[in-house]
Amino acid sequence: MELKFLVPGLDEITSEKIVAILQNRLSQEQEASLILKHAHWNVTGPDFIAVHEMLDPQIDIVRNQADETAERIATLGGSAEGRPDDIMRNRTWKGLDLTGRHSTIDYLKALCNFYDSFIADDRKAIKELDELDVISSNIIQDHVQDLEKFQWFMRSHLI
Ligand SMILES: [Fe+2]
Repeated sequence: MELKFLVPGLDEITSEKIVAILQNRLSQEQEASLILKHAHWNVTGPDFIAVHEMLDPQIDIVRNQADETAERIATLGGSAEGRPDDIMRNRTWKGLDLTGRHSTIDYLKALCNFYDSFIADDRKAIKELDELDVISSNIIQDHVQDLEKFQWFMRSHLI
């Protein structure tokens, strides 16, 4: 990717590596916001309202994470790729395969599986970013903290 400018103190090769890592995280954050809404609309069962309403604040958080990641890419001189096509092209994780109306338990299990890779991939990105740019690493560190907390919320319904 061609960078329009460089942040002082970062060279072009390093900046390109950072942007590539952040772009991968941006796409997964965008997909997470979509599948959480999909679950919000399709959960069923006696605890419908609890799970339905639990999902919306996390959707707002994950959308905001995508915004922060995209704006960090722009700050580094890159272009944030945010179209559905970009999500699919950048995908290095397994998507949510549950569709239709299903119990809250089924959806929470499926979302938990997605979050396993979401969290692990964020942690891998943090390790790589630590060597390249601690500021970008700090942004993803803040993000994964919220994801781990939300996975605890989901697991608390399942155990
Ligand atoms: Fe809604």
